[in-house]
Amino acid sequence: MTENNEARALAVKVLGRIEKDSAFANLVLRPALDAAGLDERDKALVTELVYGVTRMRRACDFLIDRFISKKLHPDVRTILRLGTYQLHWTNIPDHAAVNGSVSLAPKWATGLCNAVLRKVAKETVDWPTKAVEYSYPDWIVERLESDLGEAEAREALKCMNSSKSAIPREDGYFQDSASQLVSDLLMQEGNWGKGPVIDMCAAPGGKASSAVSAGFPVIAADVSLKRLKLVRSNSLKLNIKLPLVVSDGTNSPFRKGEASRVIVDAPCSGLGVLRRRADARWRIKEEDLIVLSDLQLKLLCSALPLVKSGGLLIYSVCTLTNLETIGVDEKFRNIVDVEEIGDLPHPWRKHGRGGIILPQDLDSEGMSVFCYRAP
Ligand SMILES: C[S@@+](CC[C@H](N)C(=O)[O-])C[C@H]1O[C@@H](n2cnc3c(N)ncnc32)[C@H](O)[C@@H]1O
Repeated sequence: MTENNEARALAVKVLGRIEKDSAFANLVLRPALDAAGLDERDKALVTELVYGVTRMRRACDFLIDRFISKKLHPDVRTILRLGTYQLHWTNIPDHAAVNGSVSLAPKWATGLCNAVLRKVAKETVDWPTKAVEYSYPDWIVERLESDLGEAEAREALKCMNSSKSAIPREDGYFQDSASQLVSDLLMQEGNWGKGPVIDMCAAPGGKASSAVSAGFPVIAADVSLKRLKLVRSNSLKLNIKLPLVVSDGTNSPFRKGEASRVIVDAPCSGLGVLRRRADARWRIKEEDLIVLSDLQLKLLCSALPLVKSGGLLIYSVCTLTNLETIGVDEKFRNIVDVEEIGDLPHPWRKHGRGGIILPQDLDSEGMSVFCYRAP
């Protein structure tokens, strides 16, 4: 087997596990790469193939199913998706994409795989819908088109089909540039009073560690002990002190008026970070949005009393739906009396009374943020 085909063979193995066990792509890929004796170039190829096929699954299936009349064995479908992805979304030459994939098929299916992939390589495509072409569930495309407008939504969806690595901060932590901009808002100058910064939903610790590195006293809280262990290992790597508290932010143990700044970087549908979480688009369900937006509102309501009068409260989410973001902000302002700090600095776009960064704005993740001064 050539080196590249070892990469393809590993990609098929990992994709098989993701499909059969509904495993998380990143959780299967990392140990598989660590155990394989591949060089960096081949590891990069495995990563590209696994994340690419996972993202473009729906589009690949459309391209394949035009030439199939029977139900496909799952292993054969995986091989065909692998070949189709290379043919349509990479610069790998057609003959290498076809031959490299066909050689991994079970003996009884090589003829079929060869015939289908050759047709996929040759035939022109007439995409039935944008959701199929961009490879998303229908509801995500419909929701974002209605919330952001058709053109911006399509740009965002296209952008989230490409890979992008996080950028190292000065202290060495890898953080996406949009998340760094939320950290900047948390640390913005202003007369916010004295007292610690509380991060109510801190894991894995990106924003909390950034504030510590900038010299702020921070308490990192999260409902998940398992995820707080990630904060601990990250703070050990960065050599910073970050007190950790396991707590449900909807019923927080902190004293009222204790903090100068509080951030609720809330659990959300994650529709702004689909480029990083390749399989997330197939997991999240439209009904989840209601549950998540209710939780975000509860977290905000319980966070506000912790902030000193005149202090700063930040609500941020890595998603792009209006039900979360603007919807939660409107409900929050109906319940409590807070001064909103509108007009966020460039590059934040105006989004209701807060701001949003779309993935295409900075070639980053998508984030939305709302800043309040406590009464
Ligand atoms: C978007 S992540 C936070 C990312 C983090 N702020 C950073 O910058 O690295 C959301 C976090 O909220 C936590 N979470 C979910 N429900 C919570 C709750 N009720 N109280 C506190 N934390 C919660 C999750 O465990 C998850 O770690």
